[in-house]
Amino acid sequence: MATNRTFTMIKPDAVANGHIGAILNDIIADGFKIVAMKYTQLSPEMASKFYAVHKERGFFGDLVSFMSSGPIVAAILEKDNAVEDFRKLIGATNPADAAEGTIRNKYAKSIDANAVHGSDSDENAEIEGSFYFTAFEKF
Ligand code: CMP
Repeated sequence: MATNRTFTMIKPDAVANGHIGAILNDIIADGFKIVAMKYTQLSPEMASKFYAVHKERGFFGDLVSFMSSGPIVAAILEKDNAVEDFRKLIGATNPADAAEGTIRNKYAKSIDANAVHGSDSDENAEIEGSFYFTAFEKF
């Protein structure tokens, strides 16, 4: 059964372009509750660890350097069917393919600078949320 939590990061491009507030508004308007949130910056080592699942991919180096290039907002979100609903809200990984009105359609520029991350499974939502937050920081 699907759990009711997912994990997101507002990526360095969206933070630098001043979209934190608009993106959080879209997330809340879609019915998600924020249960943990942090404004921080990943070191290259932390970004490599977070995205270790992609380490054999050709884009891994660019991904790590982009994700450690500036501050991000990390958050755990709660809603029924959270993982699937959030992926619908953010749209396709490549903003060129993201449906009209989705967060990536509105705020992303490229497949690397794609504004937000969303967990792709319940299992990864738990792993990724726990990467940033202790049990005492999840409400
Ligand atoms: P994200 O959901 O954060 O997960 C991995 C990231 O790698 C993805 O978003 C993209 O920003 C980035 N990426 C770059 N190139 C690719 C690619 N060809 N396929 C998938 N993800 C890619």
